[in-house]
Amino acid sequence: MTQIIKTNGKIDFISIRNEYIKAVVSNIGCAIVSLKTKNKDGIFTDNVLGFDKIDTYITQDKYIGVFVGRCANRIENGSFFLNDEEHKLFVNNTPNHLHGGKEGFDKKIFDYISTDDSIEFSYISKDNEEGYPGELTVRVKYQLQGNKFVITYDAISSKDTIFNPTNHTYFNLSDGKSDILEHYLQISSDKFGIINSNSLATGQLANVFNTPFDFTVPKKIGKDIYADDAQIILANGYDHSFVLNKSSNQITLSDVASGKSLTVSTTMPCVQLYTANFLDGNIKGKNNKFYAKHDGVCLETQFFPNAINNNFKNDVILKANKPFSQSTIWEFN
Ligand code: GAL
Repeated sequence: MTQIIKTNGKIDFISIRNEYIKAVVSNIGCAIVSLKTKNKDGIFTDNVLGFDKIDTYITQDKYIGVFVGRCANRIENGSFFLNDEEHKLFVNNTPNHLHGGKEGFDKKIFDYISTDDSIEFSYISKDNEEGYPGELTVRVKYQLQGNKFVITYDAISSKDTIFNPTNHTYFNLSDGKSDILEHYLQISSDKFGIINSNSLATGQLANVFNTPFDFTVPKKIGKDIYADDAQIILANGYDHSFVLNKSSNQITLSDVASGKSLTVSTTMPCVQLYTANFLDGNIKGKNNKFYAKHDGVCLETQFFPNAINNNFKNDVILKANKPFSQSTIWEFN
């Protein structure tokens, strides 16, 4: 069932629910406002950070719960070459372009249509918006399939361009009782991307084995997060891309106290693990809680960051008039 539960005339909060999942989403940035599933006692509790107030989605700068584009993460010096032509993007994270620029998809108000179990958002991004070539028509669909929340991204561009969408939900499965350092995480990945001092992925990969980046078997996120490791110190935690080994069930997050787990399956080749290192206690979320460092964990499925400027270039190029389609499934147990 889908239903508008709050509106300011332009921006709506829409509830979408079935027997297993009670979610609230919004047409600003396709935000996932809340996502409740049953804990071990059979009580519906929230799994994501978000805001009660519509207005906070207009002002927030932490990308909480939103759709990110055109390109997630950083693009070096806000510049890239495509078909021998240089494109200059808006630099909003000096010296780099971050998460789509000055006003990325996270701040756009989308049109939407809903069915009993789904909501499909759409937006037309003008040619040269934020410096990106091509008019890009993009559709983001959220669908409930039993205990699965299914995200599908479809797009088409009028010119050759680059496109790297993701969802920036901060998960916390503890019913708001703790931060995410006690959560267990498993990522099927042998290699992660090295970052520089501006958190830019250089394109260089490192082996996870015998490093804090080894999540090949379930490990508490907090176990190595303060390790004396150059990459951890640079990011102040985890803020790195992992190259995924297989094509489904690549990531599992779980919390023992609530008895909840989340399994992520994606068609995208990488995940950015971000442990909310920039949350600083200054932003007021749901239930009057101020969100602090490590209060959530983002599992941003995407192409490798800064791909157009490194070895992953071919992944991120979207040819003119060629349909783009990718999906990510969050399965809750
Ligand atoms: C993450 C990114 C971080 C930071 C954050 C937003 O996706 O990896 O470096 O920019 O978004 O605060």
